[in-house]
Amino acid sequence: MKRIFFLSLILALALTADAKKKQSVPPYKDPSLSVETRVVDLMSRMTLHEKIAQLNQYTLGRNDNVNNIDEVVSKIPSEVGSLIYFGDGADLRNAMQKKAMEETRLGIPILFGFDVIHGFRTVYPIPLALGASWNPELAGEACRVAAQEAYDAGINWTFSPMVDIARDARWGRIAEGYGEDPYLTSVFSAASVKAYQGDDLSQPYNIAACLKHYVGYGASEAGRDYVPTEISRQTLWDTYLPSFEAGVRAGAATLMSSFNNISGIPGSANHYTMTEVLKEKWGHDGFVVADWNAVVQLVNQGMAKDGKEAAMYAINAGLDMDMVDNLYMEHLEALVNEGKVPMERVNDAVRRVLTLKFRLGLFENPYTEEKPENERILLPASLEVAERAALESMVLLKNENNVLPLKSGQKIALIGPLARNQEDLLGSWFGRGRAEDVISIFDGLSEESGIAVSYAAGCDFDGDDKSGFQEAVNVASQADVVVLCLGEKRKWSGENASRSTIALPSIQEELLAEIVKAGKPVVVLLSNGRSLDLTRISPAADAVLEIWQPGVMGGKAVAGILTGKYNPSGRLNVTFPYTTGQIPVYYNHRESGRRGSQGLYQDIPSTPMYEFGYGLSYTTYDYGEVTVSADRFTAEDRITAKVTVTNSGEMDGKETVQWYICDPYSTITRPVKELKFFEKKLIPAGDSHTFEFEIDPMRDLSFVNGEGERFLEPGDYYIIVKDQKVKITLAD
Ligand code: BGC
Repeated sequence: MKRIFFLSLILALALTADAKKKQSVPPYKDPSLSVETRVVDLMSRMTLHEKIAQLNQYTLGRNDNVNNIDEVVSKIPSEVGSLIYFGDGADLRNAMQKKAMEETRLGIPILFGFDVIHGFRTVYPIPLALGASWNPELAGEACRVAAQEAYDAGINWTFSPMVDIARDARWGRIAEGYGEDPYLTSVFSAASVKAYQGDDLSQPYNIAACLKHYVGYGASEAGRDYVPTEISRQTLWDTYLPSFEAGVRAGAATLMSSFNNISGIPGSANHYTMTEVLKEKWGHDGFVVADWNAVVQLVNQGMAKDGKEAAMYAINAGLDMDMVDNLYMEHLEALVNEGKVPMERVNDAVRRVLTLKFRLGLFENPYTEEKPENERILLPASLEVAERAALESMVLLKNENNVLPLKSGQKIALIGPLARNQEDLLGSWFGRGRAEDVISIFDGLSEESGIAVSYAAGCDFDGDDKSGFQEAVNVASQADVVVLCLGEKRKWSGENASRSTIALPSIQEELLAEIVKAGKPVVVLLSNGRSLDLTRISPAADAVLEIWQPGVMGGKAVAGILTGKYNPSGRLNVTFPYTTGQIPVYYNHRESGRRGSQGLYQDIPSTPMYEFGYGLSYTTYDYGEVTVSADRFTAEDRITAKVTVTNSGEMDGKETVQWYICDPYSTITRPVKELKFFEKKLIPAGDSHTFEFEIDPMRDLSFVNGEGERFLEPGDYYIIVKDQKVKITLAD
């Protein structure tokens, strides 16, 4: 009896202690509760000042974006919502996080973001190149590598993917996106978001994605950066919004507002795009962060008369977090007190920011394990992904007389400013990448057995020093084949890097002209962050391989393709114009009122040098007849189009079948053709594969109006695959 009494007493005491402990842990710190409950509880405890602090982002560490060199924030308030973290490892970040967790009243963790655009330390090809792989799964694998390295360095949020459609290659930031096409970019947008974020943001190595720049930044007038854009609502919906919608549907946690003025209302003060479309129509429950200083720039753009008014316009339009310019911190409290910013808007923004912090598990795991570098960067498996990404993104533009692949025993003259270069193969925005990590083209080729490589620079990227020409010609004369490495410096593309011409500097073209005189076959390798004007290059070369800015494994991948170990499978995701004067030029334009011979340029061809979707292979693919399961159908039906492709050459290869739709007559006119589906498959030599495209009429044949409403009109449509056009009819 006594024993039972004591046992009951101990149990009762234990239960009370447990209940007391539970009581002392506020609900927002209790991981067993839902995120919603925790956010509500936390917000009920926050002062207006604490709430506003959550809506600001400063920087921590060294900022190496030359366009953003800013005052170093010496005293970061520990209750700040977010920091852009410029660290190589997690130590500094953890120290700052400790301040936030231990020295603030509520212990709200800081969200650390960074521009992990195409890799953190394992730099893989620029996004424009990844798009040319037409392999979204592979792009996803690359994003996973980036996420792991970034996560291990203490980053929970990447400002990527950039899904701006760009049709003017003078704009340097064309390098950062997936090209000119809304559909292709949408597919890569969704794949990148899913890869960065995984299924559950609270799990290790999953980081939040940020779709940028919302929206229409790529429509920059004349290709200049930061300038106004003229975008009708119809074009907004047709061209610029789809890649964002796809990313939002894939679960993107955040978006970044764009710098550009969208036909009078800047992206960072645009209620229509940020609130009506994104949050109301698409139901996005994440948050929008400003681009760097984008709020204060509303003053320069002629909208706000001062920083305070800029903050008011931005937050009221739906911009939740202010990046760097500190205007929310400075003015929001007064704006709320003056009734110029509704408290509900501030609460809504704070709720969105805190929700992500809970989803990321930051309250439970605020710190990052500090691992040695050899356990977290440049891991063999990561380098392998970077190499495959480089291999699959390179596009063979020309290959006369099968100069490529190189033949065993050939003597190669490797010439040009990019031949031994490492840094420029990294491309713009290389995270924490380093030139020393890059395998140069020279090193990549030299490691191949059976190939003898001699080298001469010939000339620099630009300037007029031709003193190296003669040596280059001598080296060329003694070789069997010349591999001439031309292209751009990495800083010629990216942010604030517009060019008035997309031709290479004339010194490089002149070097080619000299080399040709040696009478040897010339293979031109091009490394660049945009499409180029190749009028003086392509005709002079026997072969042209676009290698883009391929990242750390670039030289090895080039060697793989030149030697034929890998069969090139990239296809252009941007049109290569005939000359700069054709810009803007893109495949999915609307028809002219005088089709055919009128309205053309008088001085140059009106067709581009290389079209969207173009790219050669070392093998040949024969397309069978395109068939459809029914050529007449209703809106509820699904029909399947099929085509069998045979690899009729002697080398295995990956072929991408591109399915386009044409709607020849429509109440809102449609482009001449629109990509609706694509699939890339390995077809061994001699084998065939049947590719299928299941057409969902509402998804694939409909169009939107300027308000984003979708319509499907009965009538004839065409399925276009290569040079075949098959008519299908949607019945009334
Ligand atoms: C760029 C963004 C970038 C941000 C933060 C801006 O200058 O436009 O793309 O994410 O800086 O570094």
